[in-house]
Amino acid sequence: MKVMPTNRTVTEAKWDAIYQKKDFSWVADFLLENSFLLPRQGKALDLASGLGENALFLAGQGLESHAWDISSMALTRLKKKAAQKNLVIAVKHTDIVAAKLPKNEFDVIVVCRFLDRSLSHAIIDCLKPDGLLFYKTYVKEKIAVDGPGNPDFLLDRNELLNIFNPLTVVAYRENSRLGDLTCGDRNEAYFIGQKRH
Ligand SMILES: C[S@@+](CC[C@H](N)C(=O)[O-])C[C@H]1O[C@@H](n2cnc3c(N)ncnc32)[C@H](O)[C@@H]1O
Repeated sequence: MKVMPTNRTVTEAKWDAIYQKKDFSWVADFLLENSFLLPRQGKALDLASGLGENALFLAGQGLESHAWDISSMALTRLKKKAAQKNLVIAVKHTDIVAAKLPKNEFDVIVVCRFLDRSLSHAIIDCLKPDGLLFYKTYVKEKIAVDGPGNPDFLLDRNELLNIFNPLTVVAYRENSRLGDLTCGDRNEAYFIGQKRH
């Protein structure tokens, strides 16, 4: 009998193949620029972490850092890098769309270059009161070829503000196509919000 691969298996195989070859990864610029907003202690989650540079950065900031992703390849590489840097990252190999995110668990959640609109409420619930969400991903108006081609995975104008509107806005950036297109990030928007109680 032929066994059909599940969505999870297909997604994992796709990302494992990418991470087998990918030899670069860096901390998200908006996280670095806004790192002064981070709490001194607490639990941080890099959701859909990939190679987990953001998780490594958060661990380096003294936070208890967690990284969740569907790619076992990415997480294996992340664990190795964390050990080399003497940092501790709690990795979780999971399908974050199918799994139930825990409630009131993290002081900081970072999501970069991943978009599944069905998760927005679960992400908010997953933050502790006063917790901070850092979210950055590609927009439909992007001018570079990088990032997804499928518009389902691209943001509309102001979309992060809309889907995370229960959170209090701390920062939002979307340069759109205003002014000199050779300057500024035209490909992604970012949102930083706080869960106020
Ligand atoms: C474009 S990469 C971004 C990785 C990382 N956040 C970054 O900015 O470098 C998207 C990530 O989402 C992960 N991903 C895709 N679907 C997922 C799912 N259902 N559950 C968990 N992770 C998933 C992929 O394995 C991949 O690491």
